[in-house]
Amino acid sequence: MKLYSSSCGIELDFSNACAGRIGYAGGITEDDLNSVRQKAQAAHSAVEKVRAEGTLGFLKLPYTDPKLVQEIKHLAADIERNYSDFVVLGIGGSALGNIAVHSALNHPFYNNVPGESHPRLFVLDNVDPEYISAVMDMLPLEKTCFNVITKSGTTAETMSQFLLFRQLIIDRLGYDAFKKQVVATTDPSSGVLRKIANDEGLRTLPIPPDVGGRFSVLTAVGLLSAAVTGINISDLLEGARLMDEECRKPEMTENPAVMNAVVQYIMDTIKMRPMAVMMPYVQSLRDFADWFRQLLAESIGKKFDRDGNVVHVGTTPIKALGATDQHSQIQLYMEGPEDKFITFLGVKKYRTDLTIPAAYTEIEKLSFLANKTFSRLIHAEQQATSEALANNGRPNCTITLDEISAKSIGALLYLFEYQIAIAGELYNINAFDQPGVEEGKILTYQKMTC
Ligand code: PA5
Repeated sequence: MKLYSSSCGIELDFSNACAGRIGYAGGITEDDLNSVRQKAQAAHSAVEKVRAEGTLGFLKLPYTDPKLVQEIKHLAADIERNYSDFVVLGIGGSALGNIAVHSALNHPFYNNVPGESHPRLFVLDNVDPEYISAVMDMLPLEKTCFNVITKSGTTAETMSQFLLFRQLIIDRLGYDAFKKQVVATTDPSSGVLRKIANDEGLRTLPIPPDVGGRFSVLTAVGLLSAAVTGINISDLLEGARLMDEECRKPEMTENPAVMNAVVQYIMDTIKMRPMAVMMPYVQSLRDFADWFRQLLAESIGKKFDRDGNVVHVGTTPIKALGATDQHSQIQLYMEGPEDKFITFLGVKKYRTDLTIPAAYTEIEKLSFLANKTFSRLIHAEQQATSEALANNGRPNCTITLDEISAKSIGALLYLFEYQIAIAGELYNINAFDQPGVEEGKILTYQKMTC
C-alpha cells in the first residue's frame, strides 16, 4: 500500500508491512487495519477537535503570523551582519530540532566550508565540560552571538550554559556586550529566563505557551538558527502547511500521519514489535532520526493512561543510518529478535551525484560498479535491504522524499508531529507531558545543593 502527497513530494510505502508480502507473523492484514479503524477515526477527530479549540499549539505553527517570521528574518540578518559565530544554548526540544534542520539542509561540513557567508553554528545540547570547553576554544567571543533557548527558563543544563557564557562575555567584553550578544528564546510572559531577559534588556523571541519543547522546531526555537545559517524559513513553514492539509483528511488510508501512527501502533500492540527503527539512507537526515527519537520516546513512553491506569506503553526508538549500519545493525534486524519495525527514509534525487570510475573491469567483483552513480548504488542498497528484510518476514516501510529541501523537511517534521499526536490518542496517553524526567531533575537539584 502506498500514499503519495504530490504537494509535499513525500511518498509512504507500506507494502513491506503487509501480511500478503511478508506473512502473517509480522505483516498487517485487512482485519488488523479494520480492528483499529474506529479508534483511528476517533483519534483523528480528537486531534481535530483540539485544533478547533485552539489549545494544541503545534497545529498552529504552519500558519505562524508573517510578522513574526519577518521579525525572525530581520534578527537573523542582523546576526549575520555582525557575527561570525552563532551558538545555541539549549537541550532536548530546545536543541535537537535545530540540529536536525541544520544537518538536513546545510553543507555537512558547514562550519568549515571556505567562503561560507553565514555564521558558523554550534548547538550545545549537553553540559559535558570537555565538550563545552572545546566549543569555547573555537569561538572568537566578540564575534559570537548566543541564543539561549528554554521554554521553562529553569532547565539546569541550559541555564548553566547561559551563566557560563554570560560571565565570560561580561568579564572579557563588558556588560553592554552581554546585552548585545545574547538573544533569549523563551515563554512570552513567564519563567526565570523571561524575567532575566526583561530585567536586563536582552533581545527576545517567544515560544508559544501551548507548544511543548519537542514540538517546537517550527517556532522561533528552530527558526532563528535556521535563518541565521541561510535556510529559507518561509519554505519550512510552507512545507508544514502543505502537510497539514494532508493531515486534516479524515480517512485514515488517505492521511499519511494517521496511517503511519496506525501501522506503528499495530506493530507494537498486535504484532509485538515495540522497537521502532528509523533508518535514513540520506546522510543529511541522520540527525532528523535523532530528533524523531526524542519526539517518539518522550511523547509515547508513559506509565499512566488518561484514565489513571498503569499501562507502561511506548515503542523504543532506534536510530540507524544506511548504508553505514548495514555493516553494523542489519544482521540483528534480519536474524535477531522479531521485535522491530523499520522505517526507511529515502530521497529520489540526491542534491549531488558522483560516478564511480571504470577501473579493474577485468575483476568481476568490481566491474559491476564501473560507470554507475553513487546514487544508484545507495538506492540499490536501500531497496535491497528493505526487500531482504521483507523476504525474512521483517516488517518495514519506506518514506521517500522527492528531494531534500526546506519545504520537504518542513513537511516531514510536521508529518511526524501530527503522527505522534494521533499515537497519543491511540494509546490513550498524554503525548505532551514528560513526568518521567521530573524525578531525575529533583534528584539532580538535591545532589547539587547538599
Ligand atoms: O520536549 C520537551 O518538553 C523537553 O525535551 C524539553 O524541550 C527539554 O527538557 C528542555 O526544556 P526547556 O525548553 O524548558 O529548557
